[in-house]
Amino acid sequence: MSCHGPAGPATTVETHHTPPDLNCTDCHNPMNPTGNWKHIKPTVDGAVIAFGTPTTAPTAIQYADEAGNGLCEVCHDTLTLTYYNSDGSGLPHNAGSICTTCHTHPTGFVPPSSVADVPHETITDCTLCHDDGTYVDGATLNNVKCLGCHGPAGPATTVETHHTPADLNCTDCHNPMNVTGTWKHVKPTVDGSLITFGTPTTAPAAGEYADGLGNGLCEVCHDTLTLDYYNSDGSGFPHNDGSVAQYVQPVIRIREDLYRQSYWQIHRMRR
Ligand code: HEC
Ligand code: HEC
Ligand code: HEC
Ligand code: HEC
Ligand code: HEC
Ligand code: HEC
Ligand code: HEC
Repeated sequence: MSCHGPAGPATTVETHHTPPDLNCTDCHNPMNPTGNWKHIKPTVDGAVIAFGTPTTAPTAIQYADEAGNGLCEVCHDTLTLTYYNSDGSGLPHNAGSICTTCHTHPTGFVPPSSVADVPHETITDCTLCHDDGTYVDGATLNNVKCLGCHGPAGPATTVETHHTPADLNCTDCHNPMNVTGTWKHVKPTVDGSLITFGTPTTAPAAGEYADGLGNGLCEVCHDTLTLDYYNSDGSGFPHNDGSVAQYVQPVIRIREDLYRQSYWQIHRMRR
């Protein structure tokens, strides 16, 4: 992937994302002539397959023939898929098509309906959020990806992550992939606790940030119980009780404040 990954010099592709990633070499043998298109192995998962020639693209039937012999069927031997299992079971589905026109290699062959929820649904380059191996439920994504758009140089609303000793991950709090039923795609389960947090169109109530009992979004994680205010067990003093802005803005502004403070300190030292 150092060559075929997003940063590499060669065609960018993704491995097949089934629950765990497959190996490139489950399908390809780039070392030897294979007689097949794109160095697809002549034997995949124990089954002999034909897949075009080095210079001729394969036909639709060589992807899937509904009998279980196509490249996109031979491995599917848990027989749990809706379509195209290796024993020929499963409904036909876009029969006669080149499967990879929809199940593309750069998205790891996952069904194309897997676009992120609104407002990220127009992002067709999935690797703007995902790294290899993160096409799974509950994935933790690299903040650098989100900040590519949400950082100061990006086109989207600029935000900052939560600054606790170490930065948190955006995906500790957000799930932009799926419909979450909450405000700003905040996850319905954060740090193992179920939370309510408004709806996609209704901002959350103050109590949903912190209810003083440890159930609010701004309480559930604070489980070292060392904070002055709002620990997850309900301990800690109340603090700007019932307010919204006071709780949220610091998430975004904490560092700005520090920056501003240190800027003036340095400025004064220089004088
Ligand atoms: C499930 C089987 C499978 C796996 C796993 C797989 N590939 Fe492929 N690969 C294919 C098929 C099929 C094609 C032919 C192109 C098509 O039909 O889209 C292909 C084509 C390619 C191409 C040519 C793309 C082009 O546009 O010319 C490259 C490069 C490639 N694969 C690299 C990789 C790498 C690197 C990995 C591992 C990260 C990988 N493949 C994993 C099946 C697979
Ligand atoms: C080297 C083995 C292998 C090959 C070749 C292969 N698959 Fe799969 N695929 C799997 C496995 C393993 C699963 C999990 C289900 C199972 O075991 O039956 C799976 C599941 C899937 C799923 C459903 C899960 C998901 O990721 O959403 C899709 C879609 C899929 N494969 C598409 C394809 C397509 C399209 C091709 C042909 C380009 C292909 N597969 C070729 C191994 C393979
Ligand atoms: C026109 C686009 C399109 C084409 C072409 C296409 N698929 Fe799909 N495929 C989808 C979509 C959308 C889904 C997810 C929704 C669904 O399950 O119907 C999907 C789902 C699947 C699944 C997962 C089903 C499951 O049980 O989770 C498999 C396996 C699959 N396709 C195999 C294939 C194979 C093999 C081919 C080639 C014959 C193919 N698809 C061609 C759009 C396509
Ligand atoms: C805005 C960022 C973003 C974009 C763009 C994005 N994803 Fe995701 N995706 C995520 C996050 C975050 C998760 C983990 C969701 C969770 O917590 O379960 C995820 C999870 C997934 C999963 C695991 C199943 C699920 O729905 O949770 C699949 C499959 C997936 N993404 C496929 C894709 C594909 C294919 C694309 C491109 C069409 C894409 N994603 C684009 C952020 C993104
Ligand atoms: C390719 C650019 C792009 C990437 C990458 C991206 N976003 Fe966004 N995001 C946007 C745009 C555009 C909007 C909508 C307008 C705005 O807020 O600027 C948005 C809006 C949001 C919103 C507020 C709206 C809502 O209902 O969710 C959240 C939360 C969000 N993004 C989180 C994330 C997270 C987390 C990641 C990384 C997993 C991410 N974004 C990656 C472009 C991007
Ligand atoms: C501690 C939890 C938490 C973390 C970590 C977090 N967010 Fe948020 N985010 C929120 C909350 C809560 C809101 C809703 C703010 C409000 O309206 O009160 C929000 C709102 C947003 C918005 C919408 C801003 C607007 O003005 O519409 C975007 C975009 C966003 N987050 C992106 C990100 C990105 C990107 C990261 C990682 C760099 C991130 N968030 C990390 C909790 C978090
Ligand atoms: C995903 C987990 C998580 C969520 C959600 C969360 N926090 Fe935190 N926060 C932490 C951790 C971890 C600490 C360190 C103290 C601890 O563990 O109890 C911390 C500490 C803090 C601190 C003191 C340290 C500092 O950086 O100055 C403030 C202030 C704070 N959080 C505000 C908030 C606010 C406001 C919200 C709601 C928008 C929130 N937190 C939601 C994880 C979280």
